[in-house]
Amino acid sequence: MSAIREVRRRTVRDILTAKGKTPVVCLTAYTAPMAKLLDPHVDLLLVGDSLGMVIYGFGSTLPVTLDMMIAHAGAVVRGSSRSLVVVDLPFATYQESKEQAYRSSARVMAETGAQAVKIEGGVEMAETIEFLTRRGIPVMGHIGLTPQSVNTLGGFRTQGRDEAAAARLVADARAVEAAGAFSVVIEGTVEKVAAAISQAISIPTIGIGASAACDGQVLVTDDLLGLFTDFTPKFVKKYADLAGVVDAAAKAYADEVKARAFPGPEHVV
Ligand code: KIV
Repeated sequence: MSAIREVRRRTVRDILTAKGKTPVVCLTAYTAPMAKLLDPHVDLLLVGDSLGMVIYGFGSTLPVTLDMMIAHAGAVVRGSSRSLVVVDLPFATYQESKEQAYRSSARVMAETGAQAVKIEGGVEMAETIEFLTRRGIPVMGHIGLTPQSVNTLGGFRTQGRDEAAAARLVADARAVEAAGAFSVVIEGTVEKVAAAISQAISIPTIGIGASAACDGQVLVTDDLLGLFTDFTPKFVKKYADLAGVVDAAAKAYADEVKARAFPGPEHVV
């Protein structure tokens, strides 16, 4: 009998049933080649609207459009074969109404082949999440520090610092769960609150800057690889220094071109 096992994509059911058993591993991806490199190692590939800052050089995620997300999500789906691909709905493409959220999500799902969307917001987004999940669109929630609300939050600030804020976050998590989300990102939130939420709900919590108390972790890949150098949040661990590698390679190339050492005889066609 063949020893080759069929490799299939993770499903939302796989992610749901991981709770309490095994940590969920998630990284962002925006391009096909990076998706291909990450795919063997993660459960979820998140096409985050962080691409606005990391790829496009914007100062926030607010200028990101649905067309940008769709272009990058299609690339990530094509570059992967086993991870569940989740796509952020960008600012102003879902907050207006649940119908607007459905139209945006339907475009993402139909035009990219991704398996789920992510929506920022808690209690105020519960009705929208329920509307989508009842109509065949799996939703990942996102609570705590929600970057699309940077202007109302007053900056990228840690959330859940006092009792009232902590209680609001637990209520947000419960609302997202009750609305049918299959998992929820908790971003930039104090450990005690992330732990309380992870205990209180039955769907996996995916932390970013929210401690090891969460059921899984996500990082922006360009942070983890040391490729994005504008700033590094405290919660990021750099597993590589690719900016240094790129700098050294570009310098070596430039030096060799100037010295007429490249191309050498072996590169001449
Ligand atoms: O946009 C993004 O990459 C995200 C993660 C930071 C969770 O939402």
